[in-house]
Amino acid sequence: MQLIRTQKFRDRDVTDEAIYLSRRQIIGGAAAGLGLAGLAGPAQAAPEGLEPNAYEDIIGYNNYYEFGTSKSDPAKHAHSLTTKPWSVKIDGMVDRPGDYGLEDILAAATIEERIYRHRCVEAWSMVIPWNGFTLSSLLDRVGVQSGAKYVAFETIARPEEMPGLRFPVLNWPYREGLRLDEAMHPLTILANGIYGKDILNQNGAPLRLVVPWKYGFKGIKSIVRITLQDKEPFTSWNDANRREYGFYSNVNPQVDHPRWSQETERVIGAGLFGSRRQTDMFNGYGDEVASLYAGMDLKKQF
Ligand code: MTE
Repeated sequence: MQLIRTQKFRDRDVTDEAIYLSRRQIIGGAAAGLGLAGLAGPAQAAPEGLEPNAYEDIIGYNNYYEFGTSKSDPAKHAHSLTTKPWSVKIDGMVDRPGDYGLEDILAAATIEERIYRHRCVEAWSMVIPWNGFTLSSLLDRVGVQSGAKYVAFETIARPEEMPGLRFPVLNWPYREGLRLDEAMHPLTILANGIYGKDILNQNGAPLRLVVPWKYGFKGIKSIVRITLQDKEPFTSWNDANRREYGFYSNVNPQVDHPRWSQETERVIGAGLFGSRRQTDMFNGYGDEVASLYAGMDLKKQF
């Protein structure tokens, strides 16, 4: 996992976009060593580097339905969300439940840079240089009890600040969930920054989930509650349409969405007419995560 730098992230290490772009070659070289060789399909023929998208793409082309359903709505409207003060309620099957202030969570965290491909279920993708910390480090801190099997997450729902909540597009608040082993996986992070800057509201400030081998909708934004439980959590998209959005939602080019193919993806920021790439099984993270699903029929448990 060469793309992961685990050192403490300090101000002087902040990498701006220009330096990221000039580092392309190095990043490309590292990604080529990621071990895509075990994957089936044409994508394995040409392992490619992860070139982060321009900051403007990342903050201007978003899904955050609490602020509207078009890609430009979040950038236009999300500034109305107040993110200070912020706390996250951590409850359920944990030893130390409570309301944890964001400063307190961040003070105990080791912030890392993670450059991940972000694959939306709508068949587009970009590459985002996140700053964040492992979800497992937070869960270890609060003490997961032995009966817990799943983690449920909830986004803030503030109608006065979130105009999209007036429309019953989803059963609000936005909710998501992971199996405990997925939540504890070292690739799973809570992000509080992008390109070394504080994460903006449209991207899920002040704290959002990133699970790089799953479709982007699992990456729930502006989290206010994390609950450890023994039952599979309610998730908003699965509730909205069970046939289209499974609980697992692992990126899988062999399982089409009922209304479109998942074999390829449109690369955001690749010029006026865009370009497409083959979608990788588990979004290219199969070496790290395939074992979590050993023995499962991924066409049935999608
Ligand atoms: N979280 C909340 N609360 N509301 C949303 O509408 N959209 C999801 C996910 N998290 C969404 C959300 C979807 S569909 C995607 S693809 C990603 O956020 C988009 O993240 P980005 O805007 O930072 O690229």
